[in-house]
Amino acid sequence: MNLYDRIPNNVNLSEDKKLQRALEKWLPNYLDWWREMGPDGFQEKDVWLRTAIDVGSEGWAHFDYVKMPDYRWGIFLEPPQPDAKVGFGDNYGKPAYQEVPGEFRNALRRIIVTQGDTEPASVEQQRQLGKTCPSLYDLRNLFQVNVEEGRHLWAMVYLLHGYFGRDGRDEADALLERRSGNPDKPRILEAFNQPCDDWLNFFAFTMFTDRDGKYQLSALAESGFEPLARTCQFMLTEEAHHMFVGDTGLGRVARRTAQLMKQGDVRELGGIPLDIIQKYINFWFSYSLDLFGGEISSNSADFFAAGLKGRYKEREQYTEHSAANEMFTMTVVEDGQLQTREVPLRNALNEVLRGEYVKDCEKGLARWNKVLADEGVSERLYLPNPRFHRHVGEYAGHTFDLEGNLISREEFERRKDEWLPTMEDREYVRSLMHPVVEPGKIANWIAPPAAGIKGKPFDFEYVRL
Ligand SMILES: [Fe+2]
Ligand SMILES: [Fe+2]
Repeated sequence: MNLYDRIPNNVNLSEDKKLQRALEKWLPNYLDWWREMGPDGFQEKDVWLRTAIDVGSEGWAHFDYVKMPDYRWGIFLEPPQPDAKVGFGDNYGKPAYQEVPGEFRNALRRIIVTQGDTEPASVEQQRQLGKTCPSLYDLRNLFQVNVEEGRHLWAMVYLLHGYFGRDGRDEADALLERRSGNPDKPRILEAFNQPCDDWLNFFAFTMFTDRDGKYQLSALAESGFEPLARTCQFMLTEEAHHMFVGDTGLGRVARRTAQLMKQGDVRELGGIPLDIIQKYINFWFSYSLDLFGGEISSNSADFFAAGLKGRYKEREQYTEHSAANEMFTMTVVEDGQLQTREVPLRNALNEVLRGEYVKDCEKGLARWNKVLADEGVSERLYLPNPRFHRHVGEYAGHTFDLEGNLISREEFERRKDEWLPTMEDREYVRSLMHPVVEPGKIANWIAPPAAGIKGKPFDFEYVRL
């Protein structure tokens, strides 16, 4: 572990001078980007952060006060497996690729660039949130997510620099040039151009959109291209905390709302009504579903055949790894109606991965509904049907209600304010967002967490302001 190199790493960077020089050239550009687009107004504050110092299952994270620009963004890969093999597809059982297979160079670069682009994008989306934090605990969690997304960018840039030569370096530069929501140079995926300017958005984003990241990274952690697999495996250990922030964040909002519902009118009491929480769920869940790509996809078939992108827990969950002769039944729109269609399984793998994701999201909903039940209110939160409000794939271009029934565009337009956050909803939520920065204090619209971070109490000074 070369933790005290300029770029901390466990990939023996000092032995590859060319790569080290290329990354050291990229480093100041990255720091410029961080200062320009990272958390606004808190760069010089001490934040109690965890830093990856080892990839071992124990003690990989070290907690201490750090100023964010001094955070040690590093390159950490899971240790190599001796005799690693391609775990699925047409090359099943052959030695894992240590270099990029020539015929899939472009596809693989695209996968890495697309994943890499989401990491700085989310930091940009969240850069103003610190100013309205509901507590120091939440402020610290926001910054933890932000620095780790920065590190995930490093992980992808390492692969681009290390394995793709000149065009990889150009792509690494472009990752610092695009900007979330900028019409001239937007981020690649639409969910990462949506504003995330209040904390309800932030919690829904980390619950639903970071969770898409979990499934994409899990599929890539199965990859036969070993450097990618090892990189993604380690990113997943950090990603778990991001989803924890979203999952428990929304659960705490639901708890507070339920408490206020018992006292009177939630709005008058300064809380977030349940129907607004539901609309935010509908919005972020549907945008996050789009991130899995089209239901029927020749790319998904090609990536699987090549051994580049597997299924969720491919090695653990499946005994048959070719997926060559099976069919998958899905619902599509044909002649203005919903119909079932049989699709070769390999062409349906985006939908298979999306299905795993939906199951995981449902567990979150069950946790929030348990909170509501525990607080003694009878209302419940739910996930909309996956066809609702889609912009990518088979259902894009058609309109559906929350149950997934095909409806006319006119009906959708007439009813969309019941289903998706309106301007007024967003303004109302923003009107509640006032910073609470006294240790141990919390905003009125959210319940405190069940526990602090790493054994510290809730009233610990997580950020020194
Ligand atoms: Fe990430
Ligand atoms: Fe994340």
